[in-house]
Amino acid sequence: MALDFEKYYESRKQLVDNFLEKRMQKRGISNVDDAMKYSLLAGGKRLRPILLMATADALGANGYDFLTAACGLEMIHTYSLIHDDLPCMDNDDYRRGRLTNHKVFGEALALLAGDGLLTLAFEVMAEQRNVKPSTLVEFIHETAMCAGNFGMVGGQALDLEAEGRAISAKELKTLHEGKTGAMFIAAVRGGAHLAGATEEQLLALTRFAELVGLAFQIEDDILDVTSTQEELGKPIGSDAKNEKSTYVSLFGLEEARKMADETTEEALRCLDMFGEKADALRELAKLMCHRRS
Ligand code: IPE
Ligand code: IPE
Ligand code: MG
Ligand code: MG
Ligand code: MG
Repeated sequence: MALDFEKYYESRKQLVDNFLEKRMQKRGISNVDDAMKYSLLAGGKRLRPILLMATADALGANGYDFLTAACGLEMIHTYSLIHDDLPCMDNDDYRRGRLTNHKVFGEALALLAGDGLLTLAFEVMAEQRNVKPSTLVEFIHETAMCAGNFGMVGGQALDLEAEGRAISAKELKTLHEGKTGAMFIAAVRGGAHLAGATEEQLLALTRFAELVGLAFQIEDDILDVTSTQEELGKPIGSDAKNEKSTYVSLFGLEEARKMADETTEEALRCLDMFGEKADALRELAKLMCHRRS
């Protein structure tokens, strides 16, 4: 039966939203919880957890079984957004359709809300049940590497370093792979590990994740120029304001568009060996790279 992707996506998103909402009812000892909830429960596309679950589906498992682990990724991602928006980083006022965390709670609490979400993510991932302990440890270990100085945090540092200067295409690719690609690798490889992928499957899925992550960030650079704040839920023109190195600043809009499309096509080819069980993953990849928000 053909996949109703819209239904698939909406139901998975609902699962993620419900899990996060419920998990945040368990309160800590201070009002940092309110700042954490403010950004975490503000919507967002929930791409990383859905990607983890869709990868498990593609391997014949039921992605829903790994919802807990998947939601840990969303917490790491949300923390990265809170910190990314701070005045010392991109200095942006809107995110997910509302004022940024520091605009509402102040910089100090926004910083702590990020710290809190990053730490809670690991608490939650360790709560994933019905997975062999050694598999769960491997998932958490890889996720940590993707989130830290080898991945997202490293990429964010490169992004800051590249402000206001011309960098090479190779440097830009490394920067994008770090700041954005690494968390998509965590999602896809995470789903693959948890669902018991073979080495061959893992290899193809890793390449898929690398390509789809890159295409996603190229698209993000494009939307920063072509979209509207209403549609994106975050300001446009943020990259130019901060003199960022992006695919648009380096190659121009048209070439960037072409690169995003070609990279997506290449990503889709990596899924050829998976048959129709990977249809949700295919549709998700297309959505990520042809999105409007
Ligand atoms: C935005 O990520 C930050 C980047 C890595 C470009 P998303 O576009 O996935 O943001 P949300 O989660 O939907 O808000
Ligand atoms: C940031 O990239 C990626 C993160 C690790 C948060 P951007 O700075 O381009 O993300 P947006 O455009 O603010 O969402
Ligand atoms: Mg940034
Ligand atoms: Mg930003
Ligand atoms: Mg951006």
